[in-house]
Amino acid sequence: MNKSILVLKGDGIGPEVVNQALKVLDAVAAKFNHKFEYTEGLIGGVAIDKCDVPLPDDTLELAKKSDAVFLGAVGDWKYDTLDPEIRPEKGLLGIRKGLGLFANLRPVRIFDDLISSSPLKEDLIKGVDIMIIRELTGGVYFGEPKGEAPKDGERAAFNTMIYKESEVRRIAKVAFEIAMKRSKKVCSVDKANVLDVSRFWREIVIDEAKNYPEVELTHQYVDNTAMQLVINPKQFDVILTSNLFGDILSDEASVLSGSLGLLPSASLPDKGVGMYEPCHGSAPNLKGLDVVNPIATILSASMMLKYSFDMKEEAEAVDNAVSEILKQGYRTQDIFVNDSQTLVGTSKMGELIKEKVKGKR
Ligand code: IPM
Ligand code: MG
Repeated sequence: MNKSILVLKGDGIGPEVVNQALKVLDAVAAKFNHKFEYTEGLIGGVAIDKCDVPLPDDTLELAKKSDAVFLGAVGDWKYDTLDPEIRPEKGLLGIRKGLGLFANLRPVRIFDDLISSSPLKEDLIKGVDIMIIRELTGGVYFGEPKGEAPKDGERAAFNTMIYKESEVRRIAKVAFEIAMKRSKKVCSVDKANVLDVSRFWREIVIDEAKNYPEVELTHQYVDNTAMQLVINPKQFDVILTSNLFGDILSDEASVLSGSLGLLPSASLPDKGVGMYEPCHGSAPNLKGLDVVNPIATILSASMMLKYSFDMKEEAEAVDNAVSEILKQGYRTQDIFVNDSQTLVGTSKMGELIKEKVKGKR
């Protein structure tokens, strides 16, 4: 198959991790007789530097014409003082919104060989397999009105946490559909004891659940979920939640597996082009040091193969290569525990996984 991929390497460590995933994709193409054509585009800080905006129009145009978008990371402290409308993160939010990527899938799985890297005890995390479904184009991230206006004679700022019924329904539907292919359990996370928007979210989710009588639906308050994730993560299968809560909980859940450097993501629209990116940020302090973990990005490539290109066997080949390399004891510094393991850099890790996909090692 021929597939065109828009590659947005972005800022900080983005280019380094994306380059590793591209090596792995090349190995997949060679092994399975596909052709992946990469076009590069600008987003985030690099786009601000070259075009004064975090999401140039042609990046979005190119994205719409591609079969998938593959992204590294955006952000750098040097832009912290800019007008908030041209921060690098605005580029990411803009492309999510522009492509209608409302469904963000963040799978948290434990590699047996990394159990010793987890901050939690082995019996708590062995067998954990959670799919976080985060709503990605609504909620407080995009709600209007927002901004700054004086209140009671002093400066004040505000955002709006708002969900339309259709937005809640479509993300709930995604969660239920995915749950039907897993263990038929959905835990919807909100803050319905305090927030009107959460009570509304819960009402719609309960209503949508009527179409999925086989799925067991539970509800939790987000503060409780934050705690449950570390005391009893095995209770969860599919977690369905809103944009902000999903952002926070997915960072927390990622470290169950040992490192944020392991968590991939897929962002999917109703119809159209999907986008794939690691859940971690741009880590500007680690840029160029060849130390960060490329596995989250490589696993995001695997999600692209599976969800956008329907290449299940190819995706499995990548997942298996990652597991094998970990089994052989190779570790980047974030998951390195003791000297029985081999400490490797970003590009070496990419190389090892690529060779494993090819079947050479
Ligand atoms: C994520 C990130 C982004 C978000 C930032 C970089 C805008 O934290 O993808 O989780 O908040 O969604
Ligand atoms: Mg985040």
